[in-house]
Amino acid sequence: MNESTMPAAEATSYAAEGGVALITLTSPPVNALSAKMRQGILDGLARAAADPDVRAVVITGAGRIFCAGADITEFGKPPVAPTLPDLLSGVEESVKPVVAAINGAALGGGCELTLACHGRVGSAAAAIGLPEIKLGIIPGAGGTQRLPRILAPADAFAMMLKGDPVKAPKAKALGLLDEVVEADDLLPAARRLALAFADKGDWPVTGKRSVENSPEARAAFDAAAAEARKKSGDLLNTGALIRSVEAAFDKSLDDGLAVEREEFKTLVASDQSKALRHVFFAERAAARVPGIGKDVKARKVEKVAVIGAGTMGGGISMAFANAGIAVRVIETSEDLLAKGLERIRGTYAASVKRGSLSEADLQKRMALIEGQVGLSAAGEADMIIEAAFEDMGVKREIFGELARVAKPGAVIATNTSYLDVNEIASAAPGREADVIGLHFFSPANVMRLLEVVRGDRTAPDVLETGLSIGRKIGKLPVVSGVCFGFIGNRMLAQRTRAAERLLLSGVSPSEVDDAITGFGFRMGQFAMLDLAGIDIGWRTRKAFGGFAPIGDRLAELGRFGQKTGRGFYLYPEGARKGVPDPEVAQIIAEEAEARGVSSETLTGEEIVERLFYPMVNEGTRILQEGISYRPSDIDLVWINGYGWPSWTGGPMFWADGVGLAKIVASLEAQAKRFDAPELEPAPLLRRLAEEGKGFQSLKEGA
Ligand code: 3HC
Repeated sequence: MNESTMPAAEATSYAAEGGVALITLTSPPVNALSAKMRQGILDGLARAAADPDVRAVVITGAGRIFCAGADITEFGKPPVAPTLPDLLSGVEESVKPVVAAINGAALGGGCELTLACHGRVGSAAAAIGLPEIKLGIIPGAGGTQRLPRILAPADAFAMMLKGDPVKAPKAKALGLLDEVVEADDLLPAARRLALAFADKGDWPVTGKRSVENSPEARAAFDAAAAEARKKSGDLLNTGALIRSVEAAFDKSLDDGLAVEREEFKTLVASDQSKALRHVFFAERAAARVPGIGKDVKARKVEKVAVIGAGTMGGGISMAFANAGIAVRVIETSEDLLAKGLERIRGTYAASVKRGSLSEADLQKRMALIEGQVGLSAAGEADMIIEAAFEDMGVKREIFGELARVAKPGAVIATNTSYLDVNEIASAAPGREADVIGLHFFSPANVMRLLEVVRGDRTAPDVLETGLSIGRKIGKLPVVSGVCFGFIGNRMLAQRTRAAERLLLSGVSPSEVDDAITGFGFRMGQFAMLDLAGIDIGWRTRKAFGGFAPIGDRLAELGRFGQKTGRGFYLYPEGARKGVPDPEVAQIIAEEAEARGVSSETLTGEEIVERLFYPMVNEGTRILQEGISYRPSDIDLVWINGYGWPSWTGGPMFWADGVGLAKIVASLEAQAKRFDAPELEPAPLLRRLAEEGKGFQSLKEGA
């Protein structure tokens, strides 16, 4: 045995044994490829090259991750040598064979590192992928050139376009892994493969392989690229990815790498990538909740009960069943229960028809959903989620009953979207600490956002349970304090008011919607209201106060939107896309005249300002009041719950880009024009603008 460790760069360790040098990436938590690590690997290779006793090299990761790729925090800073491409050339051209022993996720630059190795062995935990697309960039260390040299180019392109990692068995089937072995055998198997290469004196070099360039392979790629172009919308990196893979077809490895590098550099500097990197770190920050330390453990949740089998209750039940968690749906009558369960089955059946779910999975999921009548059926549940009618009286009655039937330690959640969670909790005397808000977004089986509402008396472990169960069912939990509408709907109310003001100012519904979709939303304000039903907002306004002159008039006329064939738009013969309706234009003109609002001609950009600045203002109040812990949480709410385009970073990040002083000036002018005190800039917004700062300067909380 000839073992030694190398202290030169602590991001890696080096040990030689039995003719094989083992370079271990030792940079917790995710072995990101920092400058120190890059240098450490190159030093290890040089040391292995110089040691006559060493015949081959194995690279592995310490901990549960192989390597999460480039260190994202280094982006935008001056490059530090050796660069990642330098490192990967060094690996690929190593005079001794190099095998990757992939013990966990190998992502981005981590995946590219394995592609430059001469062999790849994975344990069952290995997951290999190039998720750069999600960060607004493309692989920048050879991924776009080397992956199409291993997979069919169209498959390589699809993998990079989606950005999702593939697990070990699939990676083996694709040819990304030479072998999949038990975790205990990972290093021995990698050593065996490396020594076999050394014995043979020959090993595969990815960069020397050619890209499959048959007419069929090219046609498959061209078709996939055309489809991607169509769907990419405003995203810059789709085009860059297409151009880079085209270079893999048409150019030598070095020339292809140069094309990729240039595209990568442009994208890293782009506002889109900066925004998407902000979103990446925002998602991690959202998991940090003041007062919830590592010592706070979530309660065990094995059995879940959902009160109400309506649209929300059904969607929530499906979200649990989809994650393999048994759920009991509770209704007030057999009839309502049967209808609810039928709706759930129908939704799954539609997925089967579309081909996104197998019949066997439908059966499996339905088997996890059981129906019962009467609240006493919630007695065994570890978590109860009330999704009944949005009415304080109804909710208080249910919580009063649940306080009696819920077993000790059960978490009792409400899915209210507006109501005061503290008031609901007070209906469950003695159980207030167990009460929490879990605000799912419709359709609850699809939408990623989960607002976790922290009541004044919610126990820390109950909050932690809400967060952890949310993650378990694939949601992105974001904590909100108690206020009317919480983070998302409270800000949406501002956009609704702004949109109504625009109508009164002579901007048509379709001009408003075009400005919103032009900004990157999939759907405009009025198309969304027509789809959801104008009556919903109208009833909420009637119950809780609030006023929307046009929306209320339309609702009073029974124009509820798509379901009645008429709303802000007309839907002739069940059309899904509305057309402008002269009657609506007439109503708007009448209301504007009655209110003495004069008409204006606004550009698309001005419409965007009128719609979104008031939301930023409300977001600032939400921060000021401590309803949200950080601006980036607000960004996540809007991106994941309301379709705000992620590549602009969310409303608060976007506002920083606009400049807060500009927003303050516009709000002041709007407040005056519409005599609307709610549009007066929030004190925190004013202060930041005066100091020339942005929301990013607040970091953790206002
Ligand atoms: N660079 C810098 N920091 C990173 C990082 C990276 N590539 N990946 C993760 N981190 C940080 C996270 O911000 C987090 O920090 P925090 O604790 O301070 O919040 C910490 O590492 C742990 O991360 P997670 O909470 O995400 O840990 P998980 O265990 O849940 O997930 C993971 C691990 C699957 C590796 C996940 O972190 C991940 O997906 N990372 C990003 C992977 C990625 O996008 N790689 C591509 C990078 S770009 C690139 O390589 C360009 C190249 O082509 C040139």
